[in-house]
Amino acid sequence: MSSSSSSSYPKILLTGATGYVGGTVLHRLLTSPEASIRALPKVSVLVRGEERVDELLRTYGRDRVLPILFRNYDETELIEMLASQHDIVINAGSGFHPASAEAMVRGLRQRSRQQQRNTTAKPWMLHTSGCSNVSDRPLTGEAFPDRELHDADGTTVYDFEKAENEREWYPQRASELAVLGHPAVSGPSPEVGAVSIQAPCIFGEGEGLFQRAGLMVPIMMRYVVEKGYGFQLGDGTGVIDYVHVADLADLYVRCVRDIVENAAQNLPSGARGIVFPTAGRVYMRDIAQGCLDAAFAAGVLPRGGDGVMTPLRKYIRQVDLQEAATTTAGNVVVAEVGWAGHRATKGTVARERLGWAPVHAAEAWAQDFVDELRHVVAGKRTVTIDSCIAEKEMLPHLEGGGGSAPLRCTFERATCLTLNNIVGEWSGISVLRTTIGRRRFVALL
Ligand SMILES: NC(=O)c1ccc[n+]([C@@H]2O[C@H](COP(=O)([O-])OP(=O)(O)OC[C@H]3O[C@@H](n4cnc5c(N)ncnc54)[C@H](OP(=O)(O)O)[C@@H]3O)[C@@H](O)[C@H]2O)c1
Repeated sequence: MSSSSSSSYPKILLTGATGYVGGTVLHRLLTSPEASIRALPKVSVLVRGEERVDELLRTYGRDRVLPILFRNYDETELIEMLASQHDIVINAGSGFHPASAEAMVRGLRQRSRQQQRNTTAKPWMLHTSGCSNVSDRPLTGEAFPDRELHDADGTTVYDFEKAENEREWYPQRASELAVLGHPAVSGPSPEVGAVSIQAPCIFGEGEGLFQRAGLMVPIMMRYVVEKGYGFQLGDGTGVIDYVHVADLADLYVRCVRDIVENAAQNLPSGARGIVFPTAGRVYMRDIAQGCLDAAFAAGVLPRGGDGVMTPLRKYIRQVDLQEAATTTAGNVVVAEVGWAGHRATKGTVARERLGWAPVHAAEAWAQDFVDELRHVVAGKRTVTIDSCIAEKEMLPHLEGGGGSAPLRCTFERATCLTLNNIVGEWSGISVLRTTIGRRRFVALL
């Protein structure tokens, strides 16, 4: 892949283009000034929602991005087939869907076997995961407030997660293990490389076209502004690291560059492949406190009127698991690990191996409370966690059929589809079956 011929540059398939992480990664990839990134072919992106296809094409151009409509991650055959036609899969959508992640690795293995490639240029999967994978369960299980894992001890982290998952299956962890532990990745002669970027709390405004809000600070800020007080689950010693979304996205770009420019020499893979991108650390109680401080400093709180008076002083209310789960789509496990868990992750691998140097640290983190308050007050923070944890089934406008005609696609050996059913650049005959409104179309491509 280090050849200068543009045809030898890897094809990228990216998931999560409509999300916070994936949207920002896509934006950074498509706007990177690096010659090796600019030389890449257009990036294929799996999306739900016809009008989002339009917006992606309008913004980035048909020559840079190739949107592919799909229904959801359960379409594993389609996902495997698409992965088999790409050299790098950036799985930057929900990290909570093991079956689709595994399908991506299977597809890349097919790619590896089908292509007449030089052996150093194996396909790669850049997976996205989260630090709740290594959290304790301080309320329903045992608390480990002093535990810290270090990505330089990659196999220790991997083995720890494996043991945890045998004790209790957790979808995001299962997904990461399915990717890194897949025989194609961790067998005696790996056919696919795979690294998992295991993010902590991500903050800052995203750069994608759709979902631009993080989760933890926006959700707490909205709670604080609505109720007039913050909440705490557990004893408040829960701990998490943080990273700015732009720095995080830069790490993905660095990974792609390493694949293109250095034959992935610096990327850890398989059981050593968990990377912690971290720029600072915070106690959970300080997130609620930061939101209150910002709201009181700006005069947003305390609030009277409408017969409702919010607390005159900054107040953090102790809540139980059920109440905390009202912020996590009713998922009590995510509520516990998210709001009470101890998950200190020390990350040095990205810095030392890839030269990653996050530019947003403590100052940017502090500023984020001010920025998020502004967004919440302006009504711009309606973000919920359901899409992040893959529990948002389908966009309402696609289900009802009102407005623009829903586009529901079923593929049989199909290569690629855009809104106008234009095929991508891949060769080979494919059959495409499409339903637009009530009309069905079959095309030989
Ligand atoms: N946000 C954080 O603070 C954070 C922290 C640590 C780790 N992470 C990791 O990063 C991942 C992505 O987070 P995010 O904040 O970018 O989430 P997000 O903004 O909610 O984006 C999720 C993306 O995945 C897609 N998606 C979700 N469920 C799907 C399904 N069933 N079928 C097809 N597409 C689906 C969404 O598509 P639609 O737009 O069509 O719904 C969207 O593009 C998380 O799952 C987690 O593993 C996030």
